[in-house]
Amino acid sequence: MDKKKAQIEIEKLIELINYHNWRYYVKDDPEISDQEFDDLIKRLEKLEKEFPQLSLPDSPTQRVGGVVLDEFKKYEHHVPMLSLTNSTDEDETRAFDERIKKFLNIKSDVEYMAEAKMDGLAVELVYKKGILSIGSTRGDGVTGEDVTENIKTVKSIPLRLLTKTPPDLLEVRGEVFMNLDDFNRLNEERVSQNKSLFANSRNAAAGSLRQLNSTITARRPLDFSAYGVGRFVGHSLKTHMEVLDHLEVLGFPMSSYHQKCKNIDEAISFYKRTAKTRDLIPYEIDGVVIKVNLLSFQEKLGTISKSPRWAIAYKFKARQATTVIEDIKVQVGRTGALTPVAFLKPVNIGGVVVRRASLHNQDEIDKKDIRIGDTVFVERAGDVIPYVVKVVNSRRSGNEKKFCIPDKCPMCGAHASKDADEAVLRCIGLNCPAKLKGALVHFASRNAMNIEGLGRKHISQLISNNILRSFSDLYRMKKDNLMNLERWGELSAQNLLEAIEKSKTRSLDRFIYALGIRHIGVHSAKVLMRHFKLLEKVIHATYQELTKIHEIGPVMAQAIVDFMGEKKNADEIRHLLRLGLKLESPAIQSSNLLDGKIFVLTGELENMSRAKAQAQLESHGARVAGSVSKNTDYVVVGAEPGSKLKVATKLGIKILTETEFLKFLSKK
Ligand code: IVH
Repeated sequence: MDKKKAQIEIEKLIELINYHNWRYYVKDDPEISDQEFDDLIKRLEKLEKEFPQLSLPDSPTQRVGGVVLDEFKKYEHHVPMLSLTNSTDEDETRAFDERIKKFLNIKSDVEYMAEAKMDGLAVELVYKKGILSIGSTRGDGVTGEDVTENIKTVKSIPLRLLTKTPPDLLEVRGEVFMNLDDFNRLNEERVSQNKSLFANSRNAAAGSLRQLNSTITARRPLDFSAYGVGRFVGHSLKTHMEVLDHLEVLGFPMSSYHQKCKNIDEAISFYKRTAKTRDLIPYEIDGVVIKVNLLSFQEKLGTISKSPRWAIAYKFKARQATTVIEDIKVQVGRTGALTPVAFLKPVNIGGVVVRRASLHNQDEIDKKDIRIGDTVFVERAGDVIPYVVKVVNSRRSGNEKKFCIPDKCPMCGAHASKDADEAVLRCIGLNCPAKLKGALVHFASRNAMNIEGLGRKHISQLISNNILRSFSDLYRMKKDNLMNLERWGELSAQNLLEAIEKSKTRSLDRFIYALGIRHIGVHSAKVLMRHFKLLEKVIHATYQELTKIHEIGPVMAQAIVDFMGEKKNADEIRHLLRLGLKLESPAIQSSNLLDGKIFVLTGELENMSRAKAQAQLESHGARVAGSVSKNTDYVVVGAEPGSKLKVATKLGIKILTETEFLKFLSKK
């Protein structure tokens, strides 16, 4: 392709991708599938790689980050970013309206815009000729930090204005924030990675935007909402409402919680309504900003010290309160994670009676030195589980009791253990009631015992009717048990029992995988089977023996020893065997000629299914991975290979065609 043609296509692709990006992230109403969107991006990446001189600063391929800085450059705002005067009650808010009328010397109603006050961090986005050129934080209002690379990774921020006739210069102001669902997910992930937790969604947003490595920011679920402008060359808008509408047309995301109010009464009603529905809003808001709508009035009113006279932040009641921790108990989650929970003296926080607060894990308890009997600050945000901000040390009597999370599961009594790099303790009991549903779904799943017709719904029903209380109960079930239940007939009961019966002769590796031992996936289960051949040997394997096996690392070895060392688990496995499980180790033609080699398959093979190719490779000790990395040894390429081939070529990994692959196997 010649350069001219490439340039035209790149330009077209950018426009198209930006449009669909906006449909997806701003309008929440996509017109094309994710796959089609990815294909457009891939095409653009390909052209940009071929013609690097044609990459543009507003190319959507930059949204993945990649730039690493030593420090942020300072950025001076051309128009200072002001802060707002607060109001905490209705009287203060009415006084604000009175001041404005007096200043403007008018008696009639003043029109306002009332907007939800988002709790994130303020940023300014500079668009030159319609292209995002600088993104900065508010800083002290005069000087902020240049976080352009990070801003570009926020998917809902337009890299180019959605107009053919952009203004020469536009500075958009708004809030970078994190939705509460995303915030919770991020923190959950951090708990399991033993990383410190973000205290609230604002800290999470600020911490994510202020990363020197923009790749990290790109992975954080940040969002943006516009609420104003700095410099805006050549506009002829008359009201703040028109400014917001115009920003929306240019492609900016905007909170839907705003309203034009013909006087302060309407603005106050908006505040009251918003306060009531605060918990239903997907992100954290801490009040309502009331702004004079007419821009000419705003200008006349001007600023006093660092705040505009024309706006006020009417704050919600704090959602913090102090209360006493009466007890700390341990709850067991669906995955067996043990979570310490503080039982509080009930306290009303912003209209909700709070009785519990999550303490996350022992590390959090130790870091904040939380003890039973302590008086603590508790905060509640949106529908996030309330949490303890800190202990009020001055209220300590000396009778407070330290808490240490037990190493036994409070639900089933089995041991709880944690991975070396994790802060979370997990119950390892096979039959633990907290985990039973998930564990049985896994046990019956296709790669495990493959019990056809036994899905999550049936398992739920059987558990809630007390028919299943353990794994072995599956093999004790009788037709009558099922037929007494709703929605079961003779035939369906018969079919399920047959499927369960059939599962008794599954191979040993499937059974090992089905037990749901932490870190033991399909492949490691096969490795274990190949090595030990008999279940009994796996049960008695020592840590030293296990770590000697190629591909069984120390974390896996520990997980197996912990699991089998729990008497309740060993007993349950024996029950299963007594009920007739055979668990053979099929004598697969095997070797260890490919021990430890990593293969990736891409494209369609003509002469064998992927599953078969994988089985053959594994029978020689190789591992088949889902994606190419620098650790991959071989990539086998069939017809119409995907992007894996590209990556492999780039990394210089050995590539085998199907014919070469077959030859290769036949030699083993
Ligand atoms: S207007 C002069 N509107 O609140 C206008 N601010 O204390 C100043 N904020 O730093 C800002 N939502 O981070 C405005 N709808 C909204 C807002 C909002 C949140 C934040 C912003 C600012 C702080 C002011």
